[in-house]
Amino acid sequence: MYKDLIVGSDSLVTLKNGNDVHYINFDNAATTPPFKSVIQAIVDFAPNYSSVHRGTGYKTIISSKVYDDGRNTVLDFINGNEDFHTVIFLKNTTDCINKLSYRLKNFLKDKIVLTTYMEHHSNILPWRNKYNVDYVKVDSNGRLSIDDLEEKLKNHHGKVGLICVTAASNVTGFINPIHHIARLAHNYGAKILVDGAQAIAHMPIDMKDINAPDHIDFLAFSAHKMYAPFGTGALIAPKDIFIEGVPEYVGGGAIEFVSIDDVIWANPPEKEEAGTPNLMGVLALTESIKILKSIGMEKIDNYEKKLIDYAIKNLIRIPNLIIYDDFDLNRKVSILSFNMKGFTHVELAKILGDEGGISVRNGCFCAQPYVQELLNIKKNDIQKYRRAPKSMQPGMVRISLGLYNDFNEIDLLVYLLNKINNNIPYYQKKYRNPPLD
Ligand code: ALA
Repeated sequence: MYKDLIVGSDSLVTLKNGNDVHYINFDNAATTPPFKSVIQAIVDFAPNYSSVHRGTGYKTIISSKVYDDGRNTVLDFINGNEDFHTVIFLKNTTDCINKLSYRLKNFLKDKIVLTTYMEHHSNILPWRNKYNVDYVKVDSNGRLSIDDLEEKLKNHHGKVGLICVTAASNVTGFINPIHHIARLAHNYGAKILVDGAQAIAHMPIDMKDINAPDHIDFLAFSAHKMYAPFGTGALIAPKDIFIEGVPEYVGGGAIEFVSIDDVIWANPPEKEEAGTPNLMGVLALTESIKILKSIGMEKIDNYEKKLIDYAIKNLIRIPNLIIYDDFDLNRKVSILSFNMKGFTHVELAKILGDEGGISVRNGCFCAQPYVQELLNIKKNDIQKYRRAPKSMQPGMVRISLGLYNDFNEIDLLVYLLNKINNNIPYYQKKYRNPPLD
């Protein structure tokens, strides 16, 4: 529906048989292609590109304003509070969560961090290497168990300091009830961090009034998943969390004063953004937010839900396709993972690319504990994959849609998967890795 907004949406790709076809990008959960207007904004701004907060010239003033205004654009997009929140621009969600994990050292001393089996590694590993961590379970479909979460909050007797949860899974697209979880967290004296990476470009996200019992305390997301390349991520957090203490990463721009034996740190957010800021990244993000807002996040959400619904209705008819989903459309973003009996995930992904020009991602999507749960791999068996080559490890094939994907593209995917399903020996012979004799 919105193909015209996207750079490269008319790209061709050469198939294994030599034919050129329209390139279908179903890998938006990893990285979205850019909006044309984002690239145009970069080109238009380039003549004024200059240092941010590091000079006196006209172009520096303009550059600094564009950068600073980006923070308000972000706050407006997620209903943050200018007086209460700080917006720290970093590289991506991973960077944001790592930073927060360092910053909360005092706050979380002697506390427990609750994360979940459903998280991306970025919302597990930064916590695991610093804190006492417990993991909220998922049910047999892969939905987060709110009962388990509440039980853990109870059993830890007020010791849970933080709940780290994704707004939507990058494997199944399952949406978590973040406001319900926020309310529970606050009831038990904990705060909540929401990983917004897979939700931010696909559905409305609202941090809510800071006095609301179900408000979100911390939110992180990446611009490269919202049609804005150039390496920006945003961490939205209460300012006061960042006022005391020393940043884990220090340098120019983060200070008010330095002598050979003394330093006074700047206020947040500057204190947390050592080094020359990524002005073009922030400009790209700002422009992308403008476009998303002008279309409307509800509208995007509805359209993508229709697409994934259409995909599911057609894909469930393919006999050998195993889909990891509970088909509750109201509680998922447009991500779907599957396997086909007779093929490894590596083979199936390659066939889709080579035979259909369809770009997907396969493997465990940086969410190995979750994929192990979904594939029902027992603890003892997981060990045997530790040193196995990637191609021998368990995994799935994932499609993840964006606002510019359309029903035709889904038809082509369904057509090809049906064709593979109806000719399994043929495709096995052609793509078996290592090859069949
Ligand atoms: N987390 C990103 C993905 O799911 C990179 O592909």
